[in-house]
Amino acid sequence: MTILVTGGAGFIGSHVARALLARGDRVAIVDDFNDYYAPAVKRYNAAQLAAVKPVTVHEGDIRDAAFLARVFEREKPDKVCHLAARAGVRPSLERPVLYEQVNVQGTLHLLALAVEHRVKSFVYASSSSVYGNMKEVPFREDARIDRPVSPYAATKLACELFAYTYHHLYGLHTTGLRFFTVYGPAGRPDMAPFLFTRSIMRGEPVRRFGDGTTERDYTFIDDIVQGVVAALDRELPCEVINLGNCRPVALNDFIRMIAEAVGKAAVIREEPMQPGDVERTCADTAKARRLLGYEPHTPFEQGIRAFVAWYREHQRLYA
Ligand SMILES: NC(=O)c1ccc[n+]([C@@H]2O[C@H](COP(=O)([O-])OP(=O)(O)OC[C@H]3O[C@@H](n4cnc5c(N)ncnc54)[C@H](O)[C@@H]3O)[C@@H](O)[C@H]2O)c1
Repeated sequence: MTILVTGGAGFIGSHVARALLARGDRVAIVDDFNDYYAPAVKRYNAAQLAAVKPVTVHEGDIRDAAFLARVFEREKPDKVCHLAARAGVRPSLERPVLYEQVNVQGTLHLLALAVEHRVKSFVYASSSSVYGNMKEVPFREDARIDRPVSPYAATKLACELFAYTYHHLYGLHTTGLRFFTVYGPAGRPDMAPFLFTRSIMRGEPVRRFGDGTTERDYTFIDDIVQGVVAALDRELPCEVINLGNCRPVALNDFIRMIAEAVGKAAVIREEPMQPGDVERTCADTAKARRLLGYEPHTPFEQGIRAFVAWYREHQRLYA
């Protein structure tokens, strides 16, 4: 079984690729190692993978259809796990066109190639951000979601729409996974678990946006990997499924638990809520349980300790 993992040098992609390699799948990854955050981290992730088993790394941009066509020709993947994207809500307000090109056009190139090469299953990353500022929690997949509050969220919604279209027109099996704020070892350095851990360790103030009552459903990377691998295995015809933790953590508790894991008090700098931010995320994971056998089992206190331990050992990568 050959699985093509796009974004395979990134945070979620490298963990998924490792799990697939460990169980004996052949894995090829596509990544452009861009500088959205330190490329050294992505190089490190790719090198760690190669230490598990040989993995082919195709360095290139998913906006480049000819490049992707060569990758498919060479690898002849049975399945695609498409995780490459411009991630991050706030930067998408500055560069909406880039986000549309990478996240939407890049996905379209991959969908077309998946059809052409008769790929058995196309699993792709969507996001909890498609729910926008929805008040009813937990968020269910059948909720009305036509109010994205950032360009990033709009691109993820567009991916879900196009995935349906390719299923409808060509019978491609697609599963979109709406990830809820993923954290853990090798986590993205633009995200709150990383930023807050680093600030607290350095004794610098943490920037708390709003009054600390906003809530996020933080999901540990190992739980996400379990869901992604199950989605690849199930080959569902056309679904969109939440992968979250169903246990939202208030921002003030989040800061306290990181401070405890670091062993140092947090100095808080209060700032106003940012445009594009949402007040609360919380996944309803009943569908994931039913269709994927998904059971998240890592409480935040435990997951954040694992992240802090990892960060202590790897901070040099982010210098
Ligand atoms: N981390 C989260 O909490 C979260 C939440 C919801 C959705 N997601 C989605 O999950 C996926 C993985 O996210 P992540 O947190 O691992 O982010 P990441 O930035 O660590 O990984 C994305 C990878 O894609 C690569 N990439 C970006 N643009 C590319 C391009 N044009 N061509 C080729 N490669 C490119 C990057 O270099 C990176 O290695 C993304 O689609 C993201 O939108 C993540």
